[in-house]
Amino acid sequence: MIVFDNKRELTTYLDELKRKGLSLGFVPTMGALHDGHSSLILEGLQDNTYVVVSIFVNPTQFNNNEDLEKYPRTLEKDVSLLQTISEDRIIVYSPRASDIYGEKIASEHFDFDGLEHEMEGRFRPGHFDGVGTVVKRLFEIVKPDRAYFGKKDYQQLMILKKLVSKHDLGVKVIGCDIFRADDGLAMSSRNERLSKAQRAAAPFIYKTLNAAKAKFGTNSAKEITDWMQEQFENHELLTLEYFLIADAETLKTIKQKSTNKSYRAFIAVYAGEVRLIDNIALN
Ligand code: PAF
Repeated sequence: MIVFDNKRELTTYLDELKRKGLSLGFVPTMGALHDGHSSLILEGLQDNTYVVVSIFVNPTQFNNNEDLEKYPRTLEKDVSLLQTISEDRIIVYSPRASDIYGEKIASEHFDFDGLEHEMEGRFRPGHFDGVGTVVKRLFEIVKPDRAYFGKKDYQQLMILKKLVSKHDLGVKVIGCDIFRADDGLAMSSRNERLSKAQRAAAPFIYKTLNAAKAKFGTNSAKEITDWMQEQFENHELLTLEYFLIADAETLKTIKQKSTNKSYRAFIAVYAGEVRLIDNIALN
């Protein structure tokens, strides 16, 4: 497996593959790879000749320094995992920050038509400028045909689709189903930081999301939101940051349902210092 740490050598290599007419999938990651990432890569391998996997903990998307410092960095383990998926059809790009940002590590500012102001945008100021900056630069370096993102970060997925259409980046952005552990917890690199007790408690998030979905046919958005808040009110290990029901396209929180629209429920929860997010399609 080839691992590049600089964009000059990577692009020379990829240009040669493109010259031969071979297709490129792309899975951007921040490492600490798990089965969720593997499922994105496998989908990429089905559609493309090669899949580029970037491993880069992007400093500009963290609005909390401690979160950035504690983010797991496990490059050797990640490469070993990728080797078990495919020895010869995965290309790894693991750059230093200077390869992406040059001298100055800073975000560009983006207008994602309001998608960036909802949910995560409200609780993590600047986060989507950081994500937009790094993904735009990675797309410009890799120039993939298709890029794969998990629906666990549904808002990120919608924003990256917007990034591609507004900046004419010529990449097909594909949203992949949330990959869950057997007990329902959505796979995330942050799960590694959960204590045993927190890990045992965390499936409660998906359990309540499913219950919210079951209620969606007969209850109003407000009733479901109130019910959800009650479920977490006295929880010993999990603290609810937000739960809301939103239009799946605009991501605006709804007060009332209309016909012919798709809705999703979104949740962010703290288990100690570890922040977990999840979401579910309601209709
Ligand atoms: O979803 C992630 O892991 C990151 O936000 C991404 C897309 C790799 C950008 O750093």
